[in-house]
Amino acid sequence: MDFVERRLRDHAVTPGGILDLGCGTGLHAIEFARRGWNVAGIDLSEEMVAKAKSSAARSGLPVPFRQGDACEIGPERNFDAVVSLFHVASYQRDPASLEALFRTAHAALKPGGVFLFDYWYGGAVLAQGVETRVKVIERKPLRLTRIAQSDHDEANATVFVNYTLFCEDTDRSTIRRVDETHRMRYWFPFEVESSLKACGFQPDGNYAWYSDGAPNSKTWAAYSIARKRLAP
Ligand SMILES: C[S@@+](CC[C@H](N)C(=O)[O-])C[C@H]1O[C@@H](n2cnc3c(N)ncnc32)[C@H](O)[C@@H]1O
Repeated sequence: MDFVERRLRDHAVTPGGILDLGCGTGLHAIEFARRGWNVAGIDLSEEMVAKAKSSAARSGLPVPFRQGDACEIGPERNFDAVVSLFHVASYQRDPASLEALFRTAHAALKPGGVFLFDYWYGGAVLAQGVETRVKVIERKPLRLTRIAQSDHDEANATVFVNYTLFCEDTDRSTIRRVDETHRMRYWFPFEVESSLKACGFQPDGNYAWYSDGAPNSKTWAAYSIARKRLAP
């Protein structure tokens, strides 16, 4: 959050209206609200939106969340900034869907407003290749083990990440298994920039996540900043 806020501030955007496209359970949106932004959030998943709404209610912050497809222009207008965080752009499967996401952001922004989003950077995916990864998170009495096995469809610049999650309650000796597949499209900055331009944005640059430098083969996560052009 500090990093995203700093990058927005670098582009002369200070707390005002911000729209979170693909807000998930609202973690970022609610934190933006806590920091004084007027936030709204949209997510495709009804379940995620329900969680976001109850978290906002618990924190006493008035964040309007709605279920919807961020690839369809909604009623949101006049925002100072739009963010789409944690690879929402890579959940879009093809250039037409990516542009649809960009058009929603464009419609929601004021002229001159700023759009910041991250994505899987193709250069790093190709350089590093996909491999099986295991992550364990422990918060007693819970232990979450996540196994990610990926299949790479290079012809379509897509990685299918097959997650198997084991959720253990070590006090009760129970274990639950969850399986999901995430289909991720990796992008290259030249594709992102040409789509942004086609949708009325002035691209400001593509960067390695948590840095102000260019994406490189070591940086799987990249982000892009663009400004809505003042004149169409
Ligand atoms: C990895 S999660 C990130 C959630 C949130 N942005 C965060 O940082 O915690 C990706 C989210 O994108 C949402 N998403 C993907 N495609 C979408 C679309 N077309 N419209 C709205 N939400 C979408 C998913 O439902 C999911 O909640």
